[in-house]
Amino acid sequence: MHLVIGASGQVGEHLLRCLQQQGYRVQGTYHRHPLPGGQPLDIRQGAAVLELARRLRPAVIYLPAGWTHVDGCEQDPERSYAVNVQGTAHVVRAANAVGARLVFFSSDYVFDGAAGPYGEMDLPRPLSVYGWHKLLAEHDIALHAEAALIVRTTVVYGWERQGKNFVQRLLQDLQQGRTLRVPQDQVGSPTYGPNLAAAVLELAGAGAGGLFHVAGPALASRYAFALEAARAFGLDGALIQPVDTAALGQAAARPLQAGLRIDRARSQLRTPLLDYRQGLARMAADGQGAGA
Ligand SMILES: NC(=O)c1ccc[n+]([C@@H]2O[C@H](COP(=O)([O-])OP(=O)(O)OC[C@H]3O[C@@H](n4cnc5c(N)ncnc54)[C@H](OP(=O)(O)O)[C@@H]3O)[C@@H](O)[C@H]2O)c1
Repeated sequence: MHLVIGASGQVGEHLLRCLQQQGYRVQGTYHRHPLPGGQPLDIRQGAAVLELARRLRPAVIYLPAGWTHVDGCEQDPERSYAVNVQGTAHVVRAANAVGARLVFFSSDYVFDGAAGPYGEMDLPRPLSVYGWHKLLAEHDIALHAEAALIVRTTVVYGWERQGKNFVQRLLQDLQQGRTLRVPQDQVGSPTYGPNLAAAVLELAGAGAGGLFHVAGPALASRYAFALEAARAFGLDGALIQPVDTAALGQAAARPLQAGLRIDRARSQLRTPLLDYRQGLARMAADGQGAGA
């Protein structure tokens, strides 16, 4: 039995589907967005996390759950800490209590974006509450769950039920003829969700532990990525206006020259990591609802 905590979110949805396709017995949880067949769980409730782990006795616990609203975390650090740090700590302790291996998802927002793309050995320096709390969670795992796999990823896109990732929102806006402002100075390495899930399952299945960066191999500014998404779906890229991040007036600072170096993951994976052109083409071919 494998447990996906946060299966109602983007990454969790892809993990759940990928595990099911590979024939695993799997249980997913949700928090505020009900998931058919899912189990409600708030990771802030340590006793509930432990009870679920004791009942299901999973071999592996995947933990993509978190409060991922970066500006929300900046404005409400207490809530961010409760979910992203304490919630993670509850799962770490429950996993230890039942002997489950933990696979945790973190972010390139642990870096300051001064000199990306970043490798696993680069020293983090978060710019935001969200980034600090993801880093604290990583450290708690490193201290208390030595066999755990910590996966940092970035700019994940694909078809998801909640429809809130960058590409899905972009497609909705363009289809409705809305103009949108997209930062030209934020560089990252976009990552196709189903590809991320397949790569992480392969790493977990091979017993990999420690820190791995898993992302697309190509860097792009948000603006260049948005133009490529418009092209891949035959939509009008002229509606996309390049702006500087500062002009967006966001509560949390963003790492600008970010993205992840993936040599370590590539050296261990048979699953090819798709660049954003390949990933967008795959997404267009998969079609909405098909997901992985
Ligand atoms: N998406 C990206 O571009 C990206 C980039 C870098 C790193 N990551 C990392 O990857 C992970 C997954 O990202 P994602 O895009 O899948 O995020 P997401 O779509 O926002 O999903 C978050 C998940 O966490 C659940 N959740 C939120 N609060 C919870 C709580 N208190 N208790 C239990 N579950 C709770 C949500 O449940 P409900 O929706 O049901 O409330 C949802 O299933 C995150 O940890 C993030 O740091 C993502």
